[in-house]
Amino acid sequence: MSEQAIQLKEVIGNCRYGAKIMAIASGKGGVGKSNIAANLAVCLAASGKKVALVDADMSLGNIDVIMNCCSKYNISHLLDGRKTIEEIIHTGPQGVDIICGASGLENLADISEFQRQRLLKELSRLEEDYDVVIIDNAAGISRSVIGFCVACHHSLVVTTPEATAMTDAYAMVKVLVKNGFEGRISLIVNMADSLAEGRKIYRQISKVATRFLGVHIYDAGVLLKDPRLCAAVRNRKPVVLAYPKAPITRCFAALTSKLGTSQIVHEQQNFFRKVTDYFF
Ligand SMILES: Nc1ncnc2c1ncn2[C@@H]1O[C@H](COP(=O)(O)OP(=O)(O)O)[C@@H](O)[C@H]1O
Ligand SMILES: [Mg+2]
Repeated sequence: MSEQAIQLKEVIGNCRYGAKIMAIASGKGGVGKSNIAANLAVCLAASGKKVALVDADMSLGNIDVIMNCCSKYNISHLLDGRKTIEEIIHTGPQGVDIICGASGLENLADISEFQRQRLLKELSRLEEDYDVVIIDNAAGISRSVIGFCVACHHSLVVTTPEATAMTDAYAMVKVLVKNGFEGRISLIVNMADSLAEGRKIYRQISKVATRFLGVHIYDAGVLLKDPRLCAAVRNRKPVVLAYPKAPITRCFAALTSKLGTSQIVHEQQNFFRKVTDYFF
């Protein structure tokens, strides 16, 4: 184990994780979803969990860049029957198993019956084999994104302090509620200038959601704006491993431990079956 990985393990400690399948979503693009998915996966793995990270952004996925994953194969090879899920998994930093997205595929609903059966069969194996599965979604409220989110145990909605990102995060929560999502919805405020600013934004959005949608949004915490994150992406390394002692890593450690205390009963079985039921 590298020196940085040992340092990260010290920062993270051991955590329990209540939800098995978690989707990262946002209304607006560029709010930090993919970086959050990747770094959270690394932190959960550092806490002793067996973690799978699925890049479900079928058109502009970039988990491979952040995790420096040079897998030759991705979900498209699974869809057309050339590869099994085991053959497309690439083990990345901290032992996180990565399933790279298919670039250029806009809508999962466009796939054939053969592909649908195949996707269902192959992805459902992840549910059995991993402690936590993290799904990094495309931005927006497309049918594909909502399909993944409504089927999971926990939807983590990301916003930034920008008014447009906040409005779009609220729109995402609204669409989840309207589509009958039964799991937990949490909000992460990313790129905040201070923890106080982030908490204020959480309070604003959760208040409106309670009042107008009658839903409680859990507080997953605040991630500070930190140029080290961009520097880490340039070096194709998750920031929590590149800078295990930086404030941004402490934010990720707090997020990991907060999620660990959210005990969610696994009432919703067959996640991937639900996903495909939704689509087809
Ligand atoms: N906490 C942060 N501090 C500074 N820059 C950030 C932070 N989070 C994300 N970024 C930057 O924002 C950009 C978009 O991040 P990304 O994870 O690709 O967003 P998304 O997946 O939501 O489109 C990237 O250039 C990334 O480096
Ligand atoms: Mg992304």
